[in-house]
Amino acid sequence: MSSISQKIISSGDLDAPLRDPSIRIEPRWWTGKPALRSERFTIDCSRFDMDREIADQSGELAERMRGMWNDVGLVYLRNTGLTRLRDMRHAAKLVMDAEMTYTAGANPRGEHEPNVYEVGAPLEAWLHYHHEMAYVGKSTRMLSFLCHKELPGRGHTYFSDNVQATDALLKTEFGQRLRDKGLCYHRDLTDQEHFRGKEEIGVYNHWQRSFSTQDPHEAEALARERGLVTEWGPNRLLKTRYYVSAFEHFPYLDRNLLFASVADHSMWFDAWPKVSHLPHDQRPLKLTYGDDTELSQRDCEEFVAVYDRFGIPVDWRVGDVVVFCNYRFAHGRPSIHLKPGEQRVLGVLLGETFDRVGDLPDKW
Ligand SMILES: [Fe+2]
Repeated sequence: MSSISQKIISSGDLDAPLRDPSIRIEPRWWTGKPALRSERFTIDCSRFDMDREIADQSGELAERMRGMWNDVGLVYLRNTGLTRLRDMRHAAKLVMDAEMTYTAGANPRGEHEPNVYEVGAPLEAWLHYHHEMAYVGKSTRMLSFLCHKELPGRGHTYFSDNVQATDALLKTEFGQRLRDKGLCYHRDLTDQEHFRGKEEIGVYNHWQRSFSTQDPHEAEALARERGLVTEWGPNRLLKTRYYVSAFEHFPYLDRNLLFASVADHSMWFDAWPKVSHLPHDQRPLKLTYGDDTELSQRDCEEFVAVYDRFGIPVDWRVGDVVVFCNYRFAHGRPSIHLKPGEQRVLGVLLGETFDRVGDLPDKW
């Protein structure tokens, strides 16, 4: 399907599901050429008086950002001269209508300052392309990343043009299968009490943290409220399933767009400390088709490749701001290994939430 292939560390039976942790499909992220011309989404801010522009909703910068937002759904501000997260946040807010307070059901995140979150994942793990919060019934329309500490040449984030990825995927048999069958997100949330005083091997998230409660009944009720099917396993393991389309209707373009990726599959943990050694069936996340049948290794390779084909790199510098549409772009990044004294820190802003509707029948 793709002219580029992933780095597959060990081969296996392509028609079988992934089981063996030594088989790892690592993304290539892009083709070497950005999927969109950079002038369509990049604004060089060096000539702007940024203190004035970030305070002016009808200034030239705000107008240009909103034009790019409407046109492509990705806005990349470079050479802003900004160093404080709160100023970068004001720049992002020129296109972000409303911010969402980070609510339960997702990964816990620390806060840098009010409404600016940390990226909730270990740096040494590569993060497959994904749409934020595709695995729960409430997602976010847009996000923004703000560069607080840079790691030039080694700290990239990649954005994949999901309009092109959707079109390419739907031309394949795998894409048609996804369209016909939908998906199920399986998540196993561990019990904090069970791990008290123990090393957290195989832990993704405890249900207490995920739902901000110590009460198992309340956790279960909150999960059901979010459209999840729940079941208790051994050691108060909360097993949740969420059945939904692999696509999502995007009102602005009035069409269905791909809204799923292997980031919710067991292979998400291929480079995670304390989880990557586990066989796939013992990992805390898994993706199956909506009829509970398994994705094959070939399906997973195609799923990774389709986003890689339309990738765009961002090599962060302090003060850079990216605002991106969660429907029109997937985002991800390679592993980052810091040397002593190095830092790479991004702040995250989440936009307005929406209730997932899945695909609409006549909007392909
Ligand atoms: Fe993310």
